[in-house]
Amino acid sequence: MSASATARPHLSAPIDAIQGTARAPGDKSMSHRALILGALAIGETNVSGLLEGDDVLRTAAAMRALGAEVERTGEGRWKVLGRGVGGLSEPSDVIDLGNSGTGARLIAGVLAGHPFTTFITGDASLRRRPMARVRVPLERMGAKFLSRAGDRLPMAITGAARPLPIEYTLPVASAQVKSAVLLCGLMAPGETTAIEPEPTRDHTENMLRHFGGVVTVKDGRTSGRIVTVKGDAELIGRDVAVPGDPSSAAFLVVAAAARPGSDIRVEGVGINPLRTGLYTTLREMGAEIVYQNERLEGGEPVADLRVRGGRLRGVAVPPERAPSMIDEYPILAIAAACASGETVMQGVHELRVKESDRLAAVAAGLALNGIGCRETPDSLTVIGCNGRPPGGGRVATHLDHRIAMSFLVLGALAEKGVAIDDVGMIDTSFPGFVELMNGLGAKIGAVA
Ligand code: S3P
Repeated sequence: MSASATARPHLSAPIDAIQGTARAPGDKSMSHRALILGALAIGETNVSGLLEGDDVLRTAAAMRALGAEVERTGEGRWKVLGRGVGGLSEPSDVIDLGNSGTGARLIAGVLAGHPFTTFITGDASLRRRPMARVRVPLERMGAKFLSRAGDRLPMAITGAARPLPIEYTLPVASAQVKSAVLLCGLMAPGETTAIEPEPTRDHTENMLRHFGGVVTVKDGRTSGRIVTVKGDAELIGRDVAVPGDPSSAAFLVVAAAARPGSDIRVEGVGINPLRTGLYTTLREMGAEIVYQNERLEGGEPVADLRVRGGRLRGVAVPPERAPSMIDEYPILAIAAACASGETVMQGVHELRVKESDRLAAVAAGLALNGIGCRETPDSLTVIGCNGRPPGGGRVATHLDHRIAMSFLVLGALAEKGVAIDDVGMIDTSFPGFVELMNGLGAKIGAVA
């Protein structure tokens, strides 16, 4: 399947430059976690800056279905009345997590520590994605799973009345898997440890502490990063201020950085170092990205990004950087298409199991727009056009918001416009993207 049922194709026409000030939507990872921890806490949690994209709204509905009170109190403002750790109750219907892998996997961790059965499902994209990565550790903690062939959704999870604390070394660098284990560990006696060979985003650890959880992190030199959560936990409702999402800001940043004459400011963007690999890479490519007004908001580092366009050069992205920019390779490929020389991205096999097979989707989209690239099971090399790439293609987005936004950005930067088959999925992470881009000078509109 390449588009949602009522596909809305759009064309992004070439422009000279983008200019202006914008604010990226709330961080998706933190928004999911704020709702989930709010539901597991005692008392009231007030969230501001919550991403009101479909993925997060599904998590809000899931927490409600599991017994928490979740209420919208204003734009980006949500109040959660939690049920306490282990205090959620059996939902009366299937929980549909839409397009969201993060929602599905984090909530699987929560359900694994509750002694009732829940059925979870998702859209065609999510139903293709592997769930064994959470099933394996959560079964070791005592939960039972029943799923379709290949560990795909729909899936039934029967949680353990008393989950076992485990020590688990992650076979893949995945914040979702780490988080699932830690969340279930809240309900276990003793200490639960997740060991990650490569550090991944640490929002679960940080936010657990903010809610009064006891989490320790050790950087073992040979064994990786060791994260331990104390079980039989008690979480207390807190206020959470969600910063702008660096993964969403990435589309605006590349649209500006790759076009000489562009000059934008993106305000209030999270710059947690475990999320900013793209910005490091773009700077290595010669991009002018300046962090202004750096500050701490809700315990996370935040800055306004000033980006001025210029010429970029291709680079080799080290594989160990992948976890800190895992969602940004599609938009990096667009920057690479405008650069001089080749950009080599290695160690990126995880992109094959995202909302789409992103290596295949990006390679196909680049080829359709006259851009050379080479794909292996674990790498992508983009041959830069040293300026505007040809463009002119119509790209299949495969129910993947980041493929959609990446190729709309390509249209702005190319010689000829780029069409995509559907803008619908963009609402999962960046509602208002088209309007915001057009406000900065892009020319994106509906086509037949
Ligand atoms: C996320 C982790 C990443 C990322 C996803 C959000 C999270 O997935 O791709 O968009 O919020 O924990 P993996 O943990 O599978 O790498």
